[in-house]
Amino acid sequence: MASGADKLLAFYAAPPADISLDEVDLDRLPRHVSIIMDGNGRWAERRGLDRSAGHAAGVDSLRETITACVRLGVGVLSAYAFSTENWKRPRREVELLMDLFATTLVAELPLFHQEQVRLELWGDLSALPAKTYATFCRGMDETAGYSTMTLALAVNYGSRAEITRAARHIARDVARGILKPEDVTEEALAKRLYTADVCDPELLIRTSGELRLSNYLLWQIAYSELYVTETLWPDFDRWELLRAIRAFQGRERRFGGVSRG
Ligand code: IPE
Ligand code: IPE
Ligand code: MG
Repeated sequence: MASGADKLLAFYAAPPADISLDEVDLDRLPRHVSIIMDGNGRWAERRGLDRSAGHAAGVDSLRETITACVRLGVGVLSAYAFSTENWKRPRREVELLMDLFATTLVAELPLFHQEQVRLELWGDLSALPAKTYATFCRGMDETAGYSTMTLALAVNYGSRAEITRAARHIARDVARGILKPEDVTEEALAKRLYTADVCDPELLIRTSGELRLSNYLLWQIAYSELYVTETLWPDFDRWELLRAIRAFQGRERRFGGVSRG
């Protein structure tokens, strides 16, 4: 059987001119990479296709990125798939997306088992169509014991809703006497976010060139390094991920301290 190193070299064989595996330090990888997967609609429109064709093409990018992160040894990959604001889109686009989530997850479950990837969902799942909800629950149940990597999908996720929900849980616990007001710390709040059991993202990537956060992980990205690429999500691939990691490794993270240089 091929070793992890062999699999990694094979996966990253035949590099393009500007980037190769040698340019990233495998001992200094971001422990958590998070991606705002944007640009599916534009990708499709440029080809004269329906926006939904862009979402379908985006699935291939996510699959490739999951495999790349597993091969590299990234501990957590998270991805913004549907925001609390995305319900404003045409009903047909929303329906097709919800369907795509369900059918894709069923089709991709063997990959989760093969690579031992644990699935986590962030967001209010109770508002999702029954089939999508059931599929997500099945995916989480079947993969709960895996620890090679965590893949977290943010679906019907909004950061303000998440923080509001955490504040409500804290208020309830204080009212019940489980928590004292002086115990309302940053840790107490963080424990009540969807992201409670993963570390904060070290690298946040947004595709398609938009310079905004669109209500994503406002609390958790306090000190994340940001990387925006013009590449549209369906064109994102293993090499684009390496470029982002190379940029991350070239940054000096100061966390409010002074420069070491
Ligand atoms: C991101 O692509 C996918 C979702 C938000 C579900 P978009 O659909 O936002 O693509 P653009 O930004 O319109 O190109
Ligand atoms: C952010 O993209 C949400 C997801 C990627 C799921 P949007 O396309 O919804 O963001 P805006 O509307 O351009 O800010
Ligand atoms: Mg968009």
